[in-house]
Amino acid sequence: MIITVVPSYSSMSEKAADRVADTLAARPDSAITLPTGNTPLGLFKELIDRKDHGLVDLSRMHLFCLDEYAGVTSTDPHGLTSWLYQEFIRPVGLREEQVHPMPSAADDPDAAAALYEADLKALGGLELAVIGLGPNGHIAYNEPGSERDSRTRVLTLTQESLDQAAAYWHNTWTVPRQAMTIGVATLLEARKIVLIVSGASKGDILRRALREDPTADVPGSWLQLAADRLEVIVDEAAAQLL
Ligand code: PGA
Repeated sequence: MIITVVPSYSSMSEKAADRVADTLAARPDSAITLPTGNTPLGLFKELIDRKDHGLVDLSRMHLFCLDEYAGVTSTDPHGLTSWLYQEFIRPVGLREEQVHPMPSAADDPDAAAALYEADLKALGGLELAVIGLGPNGHIAYNEPGSERDSRTRVLTLTQESLDQAAAYWHNTWTVPRQAMTIGVATLLEARKIVLIVSGASKGDILRRALREDPTADVPGSWLQLAADRLEVIVDEAAAQLL
């Protein structure tokens, strides 16, 4: 794997934006995932700025949303998808047909998850997966216990993730206990994977993900299986224990 250590959060964001821009320059209609959370906000700002200056062409990309709370539609103001609309999709002007939300409010979630995977496959699979690392080692919402061959599905969130999410939403609503997430195997099939990690608080879980044997206890560790396609872009604070 390539580990790119950069001095700061802003340089991590710029480097990650470079990877998105390079992917789209090579293949403008690429299917790409981008994460939610605090980590990608700088990346989004960078991409919005580059788009405004005509430095990146996002007009044909396909954005596959990584995860969403169960029963939450893409227009629910509390959902991850609507958050992504607010922070990235609307500012860069992606059209509806470019966005592939996680169908977590479908009547038949299993069938809807299979359709999401089929939709992705029909567009050539993921050209680039940009993902973050949760404090408990989750990637997307693949919580501890997620196996390497897991596919897009509904699962139950850990208390740690529920607490993380509640804080994120400033305790203004009760976070659903389940979510639909893209699968580990689905992510591992991406032609390039970029893991972005920032801050000393992520140091130990990043070390466990990259330096210990792959295990479902730390789903991020499955990324080692795609080491030939993995780049970890990490600031110095998060890289201390590597
Ligand atoms: P964060 O979340 O970027 O807010 O730290 C990452 C994650 O939980 O995947």
